[in-house]
Amino acid sequence: MHVVILAAGQGKRMRSALPKVLQPLARRPLLGHVLDTARALGASKLCVVYGHGGDQVRQALDAPDLAWALQAEQLGTGHAVQQAAPHLPESGPVLILYGDVPLTRRETLASLVAAAGDQGFALLTVDMQDPSGYGRIVRDAAHRVIRIVEHKDANEAERAIREVNTGILCCQAQDLRRWLGELKNDNAQGEFYLTDIIALAVRDGIEVKTTQPMGMWETLGVNDKAQLAELERLHQRNQAAALLIAGVTLIDPARIDIRGELICGRDVEIDVGCVFEGRVEIADSARIGAYCVLKDARIGPGATLHPYCHINGATVGAANLIGPYARLRPGAVLAEDVHIGNFVEVKNSVIAAHSKANHLSYVGDADIGSKVNIGAGTITCNYDGVNKFRTVIEDEAFIGSDTQLVAPVRVGKGATLGAGTTLTKDAPAGELTLSRAKQLSLANWKRPVKQPKQ
Ligand code: UD1
Ligand code: MG
Repeated sequence: MHVVILAAGQGKRMRSALPKVLQPLARRPLLGHVLDTARALGASKLCVVYGHGGDQVRQALDAPDLAWALQAEQLGTGHAVQQAAPHLPESGPVLILYGDVPLTRRETLASLVAAAGDQGFALLTVDMQDPSGYGRIVRDAAHRVIRIVEHKDANEAERAIREVNTGILCCQAQDLRRWLGELKNDNAQGEFYLTDIIALAVRDGIEVKTTQPMGMWETLGVNDKAQLAELERLHQRNQAAALLIAGVTLIDPARIDIRGELICGRDVEIDVGCVFEGRVEIADSARIGAYCVLKDARIGPGATLHPYCHINGATVGAANLIGPYARLRPGAVLAEDVHIGNFVEVKNSVIAAHSKANHLSYVGDADIGSKVNIGAGTITCNYDGVNKFRTVIEDEAFIGSDTQLVAPVRVGKGATLGAGTTLTKDAPAGELTLSRAKQLSLANWKRPVKQPKQ
């Protein structure tokens, strides 16, 4: 099956420099959602009709399975499909989609395509309370579709029809090619209407079948930021519903945002206000506290993220306790039972099992063994302004509070660093190492006294 996606509309009402079909829904361009659905349907070839100045669109979404057809002037939906004609196959089903209608379910399109078969014609329609603006489906006494009349061309009786054209249809390439050549623009808008092919199909003795989506929302298009925000909420609600069905506990399904792929095991609990980006995997019985932001992350079984954690490109191990207010950056890989507490940042570091950094620390470019205790205020000084160096801390080391480890440097197994140490040379295993000015007290020292103002 071939798919043609109409995406040449300007989207003036977006009031944005970004072309309409690149406006993001769940961080993915609207057109990206349509392409995903078309691919999931098993489309053999995709053709996108894009508008003048739409090179940005091409650049953003180009892929080997895509053909691009430029529609320099927007002369109507029929004219748009005419631009795709050179990319159409000799014969076989062609599915027409809109690049600004992102939420159509794959199942809905599959049943439309099935209704058309490899000979026929099928149209996706919906019944609307307020059909104004849409093309109306005109049927004969036997309830057969005979044509579509656009709102602006419709008479009063036709305007009373509630069944409208969604614009999504499936017909055969050999028929479509013939009908496209017959389109005229003698209508209220002076446009070449794709919808005129319905009457041409009927003339040619082809029955036009109709199917309907599960929900009206599947056919909603986006013209302005208000509609974009509305569809964003719909999409998030749908994703939340799917998680609930899969057994995930969402404290409030209305307060979760998934901008990518979220894969959850059994008995996962997610508190309110969390944002998931890229691909996030959460293993069994893990709990995500309120207002965490996770991107391209893996959370191990039984781990707990306390509120306000930021996890990006990191792996949290089994039964870890993270946060509140922890930041794990790319390359942070934590083994089992690691504790990372408040205001601790970990980047490009491997931390072995049962180690802890509970307060106010920076761990960057480090290899940390197991059962290591990193005291409050510890900093790995990994950067000299040009180069990055690694810090190695072996098993069971104890790093006293407020220590700076000036990399490259190594702390041996079981070593202890005294609080306040600036470590510039390796610390031997098993020993206490400290760098600290000698403490002294001045017995006769007097604190200055404020003189009362005259
Ligand atoms: C069209 C249908 C109407 C249907 C409605 C559903 C026609 C003539 N009318 O109306 O029956 O109820 O969609 O929303 O088909 N586009 C191009 N090039 C063009 C014109 C449009 O690529 O020259 C694209 C737009 O970007 C959009 C889609 O086609 O994605 C539909 O265009 P739009 O102007 O919204 O359609 P309407 O004329 O309102
Ligand atoms: Mg229009």
